[in-house]
Amino acid sequence: MKTLTVALPGREYDILIEAGLLEQTGAQCRRVLPRTVRTLVVTDSNVGPLYGERVTRSLEASGFSVYTVTIPAGEPSKCAAWLERIWDEAMTFGLTRTDAVIALGGGVVGDLAGFAAATILRGVPFVQIPTTLLAQVDSSVGGKVAIDLPAGKNLVGAFWQPKLVLMDTATLDTLSDRIFSDGMAEVIKYGCIWDREFFDLLARCGDRAGVMAHIEEVLCTCCAIKAKVVMEDERDTGLRMILNFGHTLGHAYEKAYHYETYTHGQAVSAGMVLAAELGERLGVTQPGTKAQIEQLTAAFGLPTAIPCTAEDYESAVGLDKKGSGDSITVILLRTLGECAPTKMEKKELLALL
Ligand code: GLY
Repeated sequence: MKTLTVALPGREYDILIEAGLLEQTGAQCRRVLPRTVRTLVVTDSNVGPLYGERVTRSLEASGFSVYTVTIPAGEPSKCAAWLERIWDEAMTFGLTRTDAVIALGGGVVGDLAGFAAATILRGVPFVQIPTTLLAQVDSSVGGKVAIDLPAGKNLVGAFWQPKLVLMDTATLDTLSDRIFSDGMAEVIKYGCIWDREFFDLLARCGDRAGVMAHIEEVLCTCCAIKAKVVMEDERDTGLRMILNFGHTLGHAYEKAYHYETYTHGQAVSAGMVLAAELGERLGVTQPGTKAQIEQLTAAFGLPTAIPCTAEDYESAVGLDKKGSGDSITVILLRTLGECAPTKMEKKELLALL
Protein backbone atom coordinates (compact mmCIF):
# COMPACT_ATOMS: atom_id res chain seq x y z
CA MET A 1 0.00 0.00 0.00
CA LYS A 2 1.18 3.53 -0.76
CA THR A 3 0.53 6.17 1.90
CA LEU A 4 0.79 9.93 1.52
CA THR A 5 0.10 12.51 4.20
CA VAL A 6 -1.48 15.89 3.60
CA ALA A 7 0.19 17.71 6.48
CA LEU A 8 -2.12 20.63 7.14
CA PRO A 9 -1.53 21.82 10.72
CA GLY A 10 -4.18 20.30 13.01
CA ARG A 11 -6.05 18.73 10.07
CA GLU A 12 -3.52 16.27 8.74
CA TYR A 13 -4.82 13.23 6.86
CA ASP A 14 -3.60 10.22 4.94
CA ILE A 15 -4.27 9.16 1.38
CA LEU A 16 -4.09 5.38 1.09
CA ILE A 17 -3.68 3.73 -2.32
CA GLU A 18 -4.01 0.00 -2.99
CA ALA A 19 -6.01 -2.49 -5.02
CA GLY A 20 -8.72 -4.09 -2.87
CA LEU A 21 -8.68 -1.34 -0.23
CA LEU A 22 -12.50 -1.21 -0.07
CA GLU A 23 -12.35 -4.38 2.03
CA GLN A 24 -10.45 -2.41 4.67
CA THR A 25 -12.88 0.54 4.74
CA GLY A 26 -14.10 -0.20 8.28
CA ALA A 27 -10.69 -0.81 9.83
CA GLN A 28 -9.11 2.23 8.16
CA CYS A 29 -12.04 4.48 9.11
CA ARG A 30 -11.96 3.23 12.70
CA ARG A 31 -8.29 4.31 12.93
CA VAL A 32 -9.23 7.95 12.23
CA LEU A 33 -12.76 7.94 13.69
CA PRO A 34 -12.33 6.31 17.11
CA ARG A 35 -15.51 7.89 18.60
CA THR A 36 -17.82 7.55 15.62
CA VAL A 37 -20.95 5.40 15.92
CA ARG A 38 -22.95 6.33 12.81
CA THR A 39 -21.71 6.76 9.24
CA LEU A 40 -23.82 8.35 6.53
CA VAL A 41 -22.60 6.91 3.23
CA VAL A 42 -23.40 9.05 0.18
CA THR A 43 -23.09 7.23 -3.14
CA ASP A 44 -24.73 7.30 -6.57
CA SER A 45 -26.86 5.02 -8.70
CA ASN A 46 -23.82 3.73 -10.65
CA VAL A 47 -21.36 3.17 -7.82
CA GLY A 48 -23.76 2.10 -5.04
CA PRO A 49 -24.79 -1.17 -6.74
CA LEU A 50 -21.12 -2.02 -7.46
CA TYR A 51 -19.46 -1.27 -4.12
CA GLY A 52 -22.09 -0.16 -1.60
CA GLU A 53 -22.59 -3.55 0.01
CA ARG A 54 -18.86 -4.23 0.34
CA VAL A 55 -18.27 -0.89 2.03
CA THR A 56 -21.29 -1.30 4.33
CA ARG A 57 -20.20 -4.80 5.41
CA SER A 58 -16.70 -3.58 6.17
CA LEU A 59 -17.95 -0.57 8.15
CA GLU A 60 -20.38 -2.71 10.15
CA ALA A 61 -17.66 -5.21 10.93
CA SER A 62 -15.73 -2.37 12.57
CA GLY A 63 -18.70 -1.38 14.72
CA PHE A 64 -20.15 1.49 12.68
CA SER A 65 -23.83 1.68 11.91
CA VAL A 66 -24.44 2.63 8.30
CA TYR A 67 -27.15 4.66 6.61
CA THR A 68 -26.91 5.13 2.85
CA VAL A 69 -28.19 7.91 0.61
CA THR A 70 -28.02 7.11 -3.10
CA ILE A 71 -28.20 10.05 -5.50
CA PRO A 72 -28.87 9.74 -9.24
CA ALA A 73 -25.50 9.54 -11.06
CA GLY A 74 -24.54 12.75 -12.87
CA GLU A 75 -23.75 16.43 -12.38
CA PRO A 76 -27.40 17.58 -11.95
CA SER A 77 -27.44 15.86 -8.54
CA LYS A 78 -24.75 18.25 -7.24
CA CYS A 79 -27.46 20.71 -6.32
CA ALA A 80 -29.18 22.39 -3.40
CA ALA A 81 -32.14 19.97 -3.54
CA TRP A 82 -29.95 16.91 -3.00
CA LEU A 83 -27.90 18.71 -0.37
CA GLU A 84 -31.09 19.43 1.55
CA ARG A 85 -32.16 15.82 1.17
CA ILE A 86 -28.83 14.66 2.64
CA TRP A 87 -29.22 17.11 5.55
CA ASP A 88 -32.69 15.68 6.23
CA GLU A 89 -31.51 12.07 5.99
CA ALA A 90 -28.65 12.88 8.40
CA MET A 91 -31.17 14.21 10.94
CA THR A 92 -33.45 11.19 10.47
CA PHE A 93 -30.47 8.91 11.07
CA GLY A 94 -29.56 10.88 14.22
CA LEU A 95 -26.07 11.92 13.10
CA THR A 96 -24.14 13.65 15.89
CA ARG A 97 -21.01 15.81 15.70
CA THR A 98 -18.73 12.84 16.31
CA ASP A 99 -20.39 10.80 13.55
CA ALA A 100 -19.19 10.92 9.96
CA VAL A 101 -20.16 11.34 6.33
CA ILE A 102 -18.49 9.01 3.81
CA ALA A 103 -18.41 9.80 0.08
CA LEU A 104 -18.33 6.68 -2.11
CA GLY A 105 -18.14 7.67 -5.77
CA GLY A 106 -16.71 10.18 -8.21
CA GLY A 107 -16.33 13.94 -8.07
CA VAL A 108 -20.04 14.75 -7.90
CA VAL A 109 -20.55 12.50 -4.88
CA GLY A 110 -17.36 13.74 -3.20
CA ASP A 111 -18.18 17.42 -3.67
CA LEU A 112 -21.80 17.08 -2.57
CA ALA A 113 -21.16 14.76 0.39
CA GLY A 114 -18.19 16.91 1.42
CA PHE A 115 -20.29 20.06 1.45
CA ALA A 116 -22.96 18.23 3.43
CA ALA A 117 -20.27 17.17 5.94
CA ALA A 118 -19.00 20.76 6.15
CA THR A 119 -22.44 22.07 7.01
CA ILE A 120 -24.25 19.38 9.03
CA LEU A 121 -24.16 20.48 12.68
CA ARG A 122 -21.56 23.10 11.62
CA GLY A 123 -19.24 20.37 10.39
CA VAL A 124 -18.82 16.63 10.93
CA PRO A 125 -15.89 14.32 10.04
CA PHE A 126 -15.69 13.28 6.42
CA VAL A 127 -14.02 10.39 4.55
CA GLN A 128 -13.47 10.30 0.79
CA ILE A 129 -13.58 7.00 -1.12
CA PRO A 130 -13.09 8.20 -4.72
CA THR A 131 -13.91 5.61 -7.38
CA THR A 132 -13.04 7.47 -10.61
CA LEU A 133 -9.59 8.43 -11.85
CA LEU A 134 -10.55 12.12 -11.89
CA ALA A 135 -11.75 12.02 -8.29
CA GLN A 136 -8.68 10.07 -7.18
CA VAL A 137 -6.12 12.45 -8.68
CA ASP A 138 -7.96 15.70 -8.13
CA SER A 139 -11.27 16.31 -6.41
CA SER A 140 -10.93 13.99 -3.40
CA VAL A 141 -7.71 15.66 -2.24
CA GLY A 142 -7.45 19.23 -1.02
CA GLY A 143 -10.78 19.89 0.66
CA LYS A 144 -12.69 21.83 -2.00
CA VAL A 145 -16.35 20.83 -1.65
CA ALA A 146 -19.29 22.49 -3.37
CA ILE A 147 -22.61 22.34 -5.12
CA ASP A 148 -23.64 23.89 -8.45
CA LEU A 149 -26.18 26.66 -8.90
CA PRO A 150 -28.21 27.36 -12.05
CA ALA A 151 -25.74 30.26 -12.58
CA GLY A 152 -22.71 27.96 -12.74
CA LYS A 153 -20.67 25.11 -11.33
CA ASN A 154 -19.21 25.01 -7.79
CA LEU A 155 -20.60 28.41 -6.87
CA VAL A 156 -21.48 27.53 -3.26
CA GLY A 157 -19.00 25.55 -1.25
CA ALA A 158 -16.39 25.36 1.46
CA PHE A 159 -12.91 24.14 2.24
CA TRP A 160 -13.51 21.02 4.32
CA GLN A 161 -10.65 18.58 4.53
CA PRO A 162 -11.39 14.87 4.85
CA LYS A 163 -10.07 12.76 7.74
CA LEU A 164 -8.94 10.08 5.29
CA VAL A 165 -8.90 9.34 1.55
CA LEU A 166 -9.14 5.68 0.49
CA MET A 167 -8.26 4.87 -3.12
CA ASP A 168 -8.98 1.34 -4.25
CA THR A 169 -7.30 1.14 -7.65
CA ALA A 170 -9.51 -1.83 -8.58
CA THR A 171 -12.50 0.53 -8.82
CA LEU A 172 -10.92 1.98 -11.96
CA ASP A 173 -11.46 -1.31 -13.81
CA THR A 174 -15.20 -0.68 -14.16
CA LEU A 175 -14.81 2.79 -15.75
CA SER A 176 -15.65 3.26 -19.43
CA ASP A 177 -12.76 4.39 -21.64
CA ARG A 178 -14.36 7.83 -21.89
CA ILE A 179 -14.43 8.29 -18.12
CA PHE A 180 -10.94 6.86 -17.71
CA SER A 181 -9.54 9.37 -20.22
CA ASP A 182 -11.52 12.12 -18.51
CA GLY A 183 -9.26 11.53 -15.51
CA MET A 184 -6.16 11.17 -17.70
CA ALA A 185 -6.39 14.85 -18.65
CA GLU A 186 -5.81 15.80 -14.99
CA VAL A 187 -3.07 13.16 -14.70
CA ILE A 188 -1.27 14.65 -17.73
CA LYS A 189 -1.75 18.12 -16.24
CA TYR A 190 0.47 17.18 -13.27
CA GLY A 191 3.26 16.20 -15.66
CA CYS A 192 2.86 19.51 -17.49
CA ILE A 193 2.86 21.79 -14.46
CA TRP A 194 5.29 20.03 -12.14
CA ASP A 195 7.12 16.91 -13.24
CA ARG A 196 8.74 16.37 -16.65
CA GLU A 197 9.86 12.83 -15.76
CA PHE A 198 6.26 11.93 -14.90
CA PHE A 199 5.13 13.34 -18.27
CA ASP A 200 7.69 11.07 -19.94
CA LEU A 201 6.52 8.08 -17.89
CA LEU A 202 2.96 8.67 -19.12
CA ALA A 203 4.24 8.85 -22.70
CA ARG A 204 5.97 5.50 -22.20
CA CYS A 205 2.79 4.00 -20.68
CA GLY A 206 1.07 4.98 -23.93
CA ASP A 207 -2.46 3.82 -23.18
CA ARG A 208 -4.90 2.82 -20.45
CA ALA A 209 -3.37 -0.63 -19.95
CA GLY A 210 0.09 0.91 -19.66
CA VAL A 211 -1.12 3.38 -17.04
CA MET A 212 -2.93 0.64 -15.10
CA ALA A 213 0.33 -1.34 -14.98
CA HIS A 214 1.82 1.61 -13.02
CA ILE A 215 -1.36 2.84 -11.37
CA GLU A 216 -0.15 3.10 -7.76
CA GLU A 217 2.86 5.14 -8.87
CA VAL A 218 0.68 7.30 -11.12
CA LEU A 219 -1.86 8.07 -8.38
CA CYS A 220 0.86 8.60 -5.82
CA THR A 221 2.75 11.07 -8.02
CA CYS A 222 -0.40 13.09 -8.80
CA CYS A 223 -1.58 13.16 -5.20
CA ALA A 224 1.90 14.02 -3.88
CA ILE A 225 2.00 17.05 -6.19
CA LYS A 226 -1.51 18.07 -5.23
CA ALA A 227 -0.72 17.61 -1.52
CA LYS A 228 2.38 19.83 -1.80
CA VAL A 229 0.39 22.56 -3.54
CA VAL A 230 -2.50 22.35 -1.05
CA MET A 231 -0.14 22.38 1.95
CA GLU A 232 1.36 25.61 0.67
CA ASP A 233 -1.87 27.27 -0.42
CA GLU A 234 -4.95 25.55 1.00
CA ARG A 235 -7.26 28.53 0.39
CA ASP A 236 -6.37 29.02 -3.29
CA THR A 237 -4.88 32.49 -3.09
CA GLY A 238 -1.58 31.78 -4.84
CA LEU A 239 0.24 28.60 -5.83
CA ARG A 240 -2.95 26.48 -6.00
CA MET A 241 -3.84 28.39 -9.17
CA ILE A 242 -1.36 26.27 -11.10
CA LEU A 243 -3.77 23.34 -10.75
CA ASN A 244 -5.95 25.32 -13.15
CA PHE A 245 -3.58 24.87 -16.10
CA GLY A 246 -5.87 24.35 -19.11
CA HIS A 247 -8.95 25.08 -17.04
CA THR A 248 -9.75 28.69 -18.02
CA LEU A 249 -10.07 27.67 -21.65
CA GLY A 250 -11.53 24.32 -20.61
CA HIS A 251 -14.35 26.14 -18.81
CA ALA A 252 -15.10 28.02 -22.03
CA TYR A 253 -15.53 24.71 -23.88
CA GLU A 254 -17.58 23.05 -21.15
CA LYS A 255 -19.89 26.04 -20.95
CA ALA A 256 -20.16 26.57 -24.72
CA TYR A 257 -21.46 23.02 -25.07
CA HIS A 258 -23.68 23.30 -21.95
CA TYR A 259 -21.59 20.75 -20.00
CA GLU A 260 -23.07 18.02 -22.21
CA THR A 261 -20.86 17.32 -25.22
CA TYR A 262 -17.45 17.24 -23.53
CA THR A 263 -16.40 15.87 -20.17
CA HIS A 264 -14.37 18.13 -17.86
CA GLY A 265 -11.19 16.25 -18.79
CA GLN A 266 -11.84 16.51 -22.52
CA ALA A 267 -12.32 20.27 -22.20
CA VAL A 268 -9.19 20.61 -20.03
CA SER A 269 -7.20 18.61 -22.58
CA ALA A 270 -8.03 21.03 -25.40
CA GLY A 271 -7.46 23.90 -22.95
CA MET A 272 -3.95 22.67 -22.09
CA VAL A 273 -3.00 22.38 -25.76
CA LEU A 274 -4.23 25.91 -26.50
CA ALA A 275 -2.55 27.31 -23.37
CA ALA A 276 0.73 25.79 -24.59
CA GLU A 277 0.19 27.33 -28.02
CA LEU A 278 -0.52 30.75 -26.48
CA GLY A 279 2.61 30.44 -24.35
CA GLU A 280 4.68 29.61 -27.42
CA ARG A 281 3.21 32.55 -29.33
CA LEU A 282 4.01 34.87 -26.41
CA GLY A 283 7.56 33.55 -26.20
CA VAL A 284 6.94 32.28 -22.65
CA THR A 285 6.78 28.56 -23.43
CA GLN A 286 9.59 26.52 -24.92
CA PRO A 287 8.81 25.81 -28.60
CA GLY A 288 7.67 22.22 -29.19
CA THR A 289 5.81 21.98 -25.87
CA LYS A 290 2.39 22.20 -27.50
CA ALA A 291 3.22 19.34 -29.88
CA GLN A 292 4.26 17.09 -27.00
CA ILE A 293 1.08 17.78 -25.01
CA GLU A 294 -0.98 17.28 -28.14
CA GLN A 295 0.64 13.92 -28.78
CA LEU A 296 0.16 12.66 -25.22
CA THR A 297 -3.45 13.79 -24.84
CA ALA A 298 -4.33 12.31 -28.24
CA ALA A 299 -2.74 8.99 -27.21
CA PHE A 300 -5.31 8.82 -24.41
CA GLY A 301 -8.22 9.58 -26.73
CA LEU A 302 -8.56 13.19 -25.57
CA PRO A 303 -9.43 16.07 -27.92
CA THR A 304 -6.60 18.45 -28.74
CA ALA A 305 -8.86 21.27 -29.95
CA ILE A 306 -12.51 22.18 -29.48
CA PRO A 307 -14.20 24.80 -31.64
CA CYS A 308 -15.77 27.71 -29.81
CA THR A 309 -16.73 31.32 -30.49
CA ALA A 310 -15.16 34.57 -29.31
CA GLU A 311 -18.28 35.13 -27.17
CA ASP A 312 -17.74 31.79 -25.43
CA TYR A 313 -14.16 32.76 -24.56
CA GLU A 314 -15.32 36.19 -23.43
CA SER A 315 -17.89 34.76 -21.08
CA ALA A 316 -15.44 32.24 -19.60
CA VAL A 317 -12.64 34.77 -19.17
CA GLY A 318 -14.98 37.36 -17.71
CA LEU A 319 -16.37 34.99 -15.11
CA ASP A 320 -13.21 33.08 -14.37
CA LYS A 321 -12.50 32.64 -10.66
CA LYS A 322 -8.89 33.66 -11.21
CA GLY A 323 -9.91 37.00 -12.67
CA SER A 324 -9.67 40.17 -10.66
CA GLY A 325 -10.94 43.30 -12.40
CA ASP A 326 -9.63 43.78 -15.90
CA SER A 327 -6.70 41.43 -15.57
CA ILE A 328 -6.37 37.66 -15.30
CA THR A 329 -3.61 35.28 -14.32
CA VAL A 330 -3.28 32.66 -17.01
CA ILE A 331 -1.36 29.52 -16.17
CA LEU A 332 1.18 29.08 -18.94
CA LEU A 333 4.17 26.75 -19.00
CA ARG A 334 7.81 27.75 -19.20
CA THR A 335 8.58 24.24 -20.31
CA LEU A 336 7.16 20.79 -19.58
CA GLY A 337 7.20 20.40 -15.80
CA GLU A 338 7.45 24.11 -15.04
CA CYS A 339 4.66 26.68 -14.83
CA ALA A 340 4.75 30.36 -15.68
CA PRO A 341 1.65 32.02 -14.19
CA THR A 342 1.25 35.10 -16.37
CA LYS A 343 -0.84 38.13 -15.50
CA MET A 344 -2.36 39.86 -18.49
CA GLU A 345 -5.22 42.11 -19.45
CA LYS A 346 -8.37 40.13 -20.19
CA LYS A 347 -8.66 42.10 -23.43
CA GLU A 348 -5.14 41.03 -24.41
CA LEU A 349 -5.97 37.36 -23.73
CA LEU A 350 -9.18 37.58 -25.71
CA ALA A 351 -7.35 39.22 -28.63
CA LEU A 352 -4.83 36.35 -28.62
CA LEU A 353 -7.62 33.78 -28.57
N1 GLY B 1 -9.16 21.16 -8.64
C1 GLY B 1 -8.36 22.28 -8.36
C2 GLY B 1 -8.09 22.48 -6.90
O1 GLY B 1 -8.34 21.61 -6.10
O2 GLY B 1 -7.63 23.53 -6.52
